[in-house]
This record gives sequence, structure tokens and C-alpha cells, in this order.
Amino acid sequence: MDLKKLYIDYFKKLGHVQIPSAPIVPENDPSVLFNTAGMQPLVPYLLGKDHPCGKRLCDYQKCLRLTDLDEVGDSTHHTFFEMLGNWSLGDYFKDESIKYSFDFLTKVLNIPIEKLAITVFKGTDKIPKDEISKKRWLSLGIKEEKIQETESDNFWIAGDSGPCGPDTEIFYFRSNDEVPETYDLEDDRWVEIWNNVFMEYYKDENGQITELPQKNVDTGMGVERTTAILEGVNDNYLSSIWKDVIELIEKISNLPYKGNEKSMRIIADHIRTSVFIACDYSMIKPSNTDQGYVLRRLIRRMIRHAKKLGIDITSNFDTQIAELIIKKYENYYSEIKENKQTAIEVLQNEKVKFSKTLEKGLKEFDKIIANINENVINKDLAFKLYDTYGFPIELTEELAKEKNINVDIEGFKEKFKHHQELSRQGSKEKFKGGLSSSGEQETKYHTATHLLNAALKEVLGKDTHQKGSNITNERMRFDFNSDHKLTEEEKEKIESLVNKWIQEDLKVSIKQMTKEEAIKIGAEHMFIERYPDVVTVYYIGDISKEICMGPHVKSTKELGRFKIIKEEASSSGIRRIKAILE
Ligand code: SER
Repeated sequence: MDLKKLYIDYFKKLGHVQIPSAPIVPENDPSVLFNTAGMQPLVPYLLGKDHPCGKRLCDYQKCLRLTDLDEVGDSTHHTFFEMLGNWSLGDYFKDESIKYSFDFLTKVLNIPIEKLAITVFKGTDKIPKDEISKKRWLSLGIKEEKIQETESDNFWIAGDSGPCGPDTEIFYFRSNDEVPETYDLEDDRWVEIWNNVFMEYYKDENGQITELPQKNVDTGMGVERTTAILEGVNDNYLSSIWKDVIELIEKISNLPYKGNEKSMRIIADHIRTSVFIACDYSMIKPSNTDQGYVLRRLIRRMIRHAKKLGIDITSNFDTQIAELIIKKYENYYSEIKENKQTAIEVLQNEKVKFSKTLEKGLKEFDKIIANINENVINKDLAFKLYDTYGFPIELTEELAKEKNINVDIEGFKEKFKHHQELSRQGSKEKFKGGLSSSGEQETKYHTATHLLNAALKEVLGKDTHQKGSNITNERMRFDFNSDHKLTEEEKEKIESLVNKWIQEDLKVSIKQMTKEEAIKIGAEHMFIERYPDVVTVYYIGDISKEICMGPHVKSTKELGRFKIIKEEASSSGIRRIKAILE
């Protein structure tokens, strides 16, 4: 069943414009490592900014949640997943939203009404009970006994602050048992399939709740879970999304799924997530910080589980699995099609690196646990496994857990104090920060990437294009295609051209047009399928035009002085510039 297609077609008919999935690594939001919910890229619009595609939007969005990482291996958790969403940005509200969801479930997916149950917001002393949603469900024929009210489960916010509001959740009875008359919140045969959030509030950092200028709808439905449910399987990995991947792992390992579920699920999930990270526009590579560290952790954990199943890790097993996964997604996501070779190389290179030390590291680990006196691996040994054998601390933790042994994680972290950017810490911090819109400095860097893009074309030739970018409030990183390392002279030329444009104080302006028009006038773009039918083109004087969603500065003098810090290889045929604004 192609749930994504059914969903998008349905909401398009209801006047929604399909928007492309935002990159999995947020382009201009250094406060989070990955997109964790479909609404994340839409935050500025939920807060009131005009969206170039209008007030009714729908999409399937790539999401990645690391909070579920340790859970992967059971039947329902994934690191990467896809989320279906429809949005009203100050347009329709509860009545229509509930009706749209109800019709999709009962008329398009043909779910019998008695198999549905609902929760609605009970209200608190600060926010009133959601009477309207309850009434609406009743008017559509949902029985009163199938509607429950909760407080905390029916209020949705990403992180600690941001747009938020009461929600109504839709549950499906996943069982062949007779459907009970009454919906019992504790009965886990009822599983949540859809969440309609009515975002009418904003919660600031101090916990203060105010009303938003507009009432929005933000809904989210997990593709993996809903597909499994509708196909009547209790294990996501047995749905049509995963079944052939699991069968391939069975074939490669020569073992049955039954009895080896955990390792097989981890291999399937982690390869898929690694493919999506490696193919993303930011061209992340395994490293010891931030997203790169997550990628490294996933690949190394996957390899360890492959070894556990007795798979010859020097074989091309990872390529075989990655290719099968790529085939499933390349027609939905152009970056997967364009960068699949990069993903396969990333997996292979990391595997070669890790397989050199894995065997010895596992022996060392066995030695450590044979010799420990207390039930804990101390910080020095954990550090040795990391430093000498390349074991991410989480891997040591997982191995230890299997033997009922603890690891002195705090001590390990202390040892790492001088590694300022120890990613696990870093990412925790970032997740805590929740959502943020682009700050002033990021906005400047964002405009600088357009200038750099234009300068590269002048100096290196018209065929030079952006292949990825990453911005923090301290620096910018920009990837582009080039068949050679830049010479000193080229770097100087690029730098002074950008600075010349900054000094000229060129105005930044925007125009909206169809995607076709934008291509015709030669607007710079990355993956054209990513864009909606109507796009915004940002002009900087007459030296740059790019399809982009902003935000940007008003004129270039705001940028200060542009300076290239480093030019290096990113991957084959791709170079990377790191630059700052002074
Ligand atoms: N933001 C809500 C969620 O992630 C609905 O999309 O569940």
C-alpha cells in the first residue's frame, strides 16, 4: 500500500499544496542536529510568516529521533522515519481538520468507524478544555465511550518552547479480538496513528504561554507505524516497508529472523538512517562531532550487530542492503538518487576503518570484563576502547549491558572535557534547546552563501554549483563541485569578489514565480524536485538569483567582511569552503 501517495493526493484535492520534505539536517537552525518532526521546518510560518505556497500545505517529511535510538531493535522503533503532515496556517481549524482526518481514515483507507478511538484535551487551570473537538468527533458518529480526555498527552510542543497547543489523537484497534465498546487508555491494543495539533499558543523560554497571531493546524502521521497497522502486522519490520530488507539480511546471514530480530532490525534501521544522513544536502561524513558522530555511531553499531550474526563484515553486505533501501526511496527523494554512490562509499569507508579495530577491540573488551573486580568498566578502560579501538561510548555501554555490567559514563565524559565538542554532549545540549528560528548572525551567513555561490561561478566557471551548506552563528560551510583543489590565487579572487559585493551594499529582494519560470531565468537551485510549484527567488543586486526560502539580510553591507578560513576536499569531486564574517 502506498500510504504516502494516498495521503498527498487526498489533501491536494482539499486545496493543500504539497511542499517538499526539508533536509534531514536543518539548513539554518544550529539548535537541533536533525529534524525531529514534520512541523519543525514550518515554525516561522506557524508563528505568522507568509508561506510562499499559501495557507494549506501537506507533505511527507524526513524525521530523525535520537531519543529512540536505544529502543531500536524492538518491533516499533526507528531512528529515521517519515511523517505525513497537513497544515493550516491560520486557515481552517478544528472542525475541518477533524473532518478531513475522519474522511481520510474511513473513506480512503476504509477503516471501520468502530475501530477508531479518540483522545481530546481535558484542560488545565490555564488552558480551557477542548469542547469543540469532542463535539466534532461526536457529530461524525464516534461514540462518546470511544472518546477519552487527557491533560498532558493532549498538549503538544516540540522541546521546551515554541508554537504549541491542545491536540486530538486518533487511535486504531490493532487486534483481531472483538472491539470493546469503551476505549480504555490503558489497553495497548489501541495504537495511536494520527495526531492533530491545534497550534494556537506560544510558549516562551520562561514557560509563559501567549496566544499566537493565528490559529494553526499541524497534523502528523507516522508512515511506518500506520503502514504496519493497516497491513495487520504487529512488527513494523514485517510490513511491506521492511519485509524484503529483512529477507535479504536473512539470506546474507543465513539465519532466520525469528530469534535474531534485534540485530536484524538494528542493521536494517541503521543502514537506512545512514543512507539518509549521508545523502542529505549537507554532505555529512562520519566524524567525532555532531551529525557526523551520529552517523559514525550508527554505522559502527550496525557493523557490530552484523558481526554478531556471523556476517562476514569484509563482504559487501552493507552495499547490498543499502542498494535495496535506496531503490525504495530514490523516486521520492531526489537527493537519494543523486547521492546514492556517496552513501555507499560512506558506509564502506567507515566499515573498513572500523573493521580494522573491531576484532581487537572485542577481544580487549572480553579481557576487560574477565578482569574487572567490581561490576563496572572504569573510565580509563572505556576511554581506551574509544581511543584505541574506535568504540563509541554508547557501543561499549551496549556491550556491557548485554553482560549486566555498567560503564562509568560520567568518568568517561570527564576524561573528554578537553574534547570540547564531544558530540553526545553537544547533541544533548542542542536537543534541549529545542527549536529556534534563524538568528541575526545565521541570516547574515545565509546571505553570504549566495554571494559565495555567485563568486565561485565567476572564478571557477558557470558549471560550479552548491552541493551543500551548513551554517552556525560562528561560521559557514559551503560545498560545491570542482575538479581541483583551489589555488591561492583563486581563493583570493573569490574572497575579494564577495567583499566587493558586500561593499557595494547590494539590495536583497524577492520575487515569487513558478518553478518553471525560475529555472528559465536561470535561478540557482539544488535539487529541483525539492521545490514546490511556486517558489521564492532571492535576488542580490543583479549578481545572484537563487531559489530559496530565506531569511536574508536586507542589503549586503550588513555582512561585514568575508574571509575564507579553509578549503578542503569534501568527497570525490566536491570541495568545501569554510568561511567567517568578521
Ligand atoms: N507535531 C505533531 C507531532 O509531531 C503533529 O505533527 O506529533
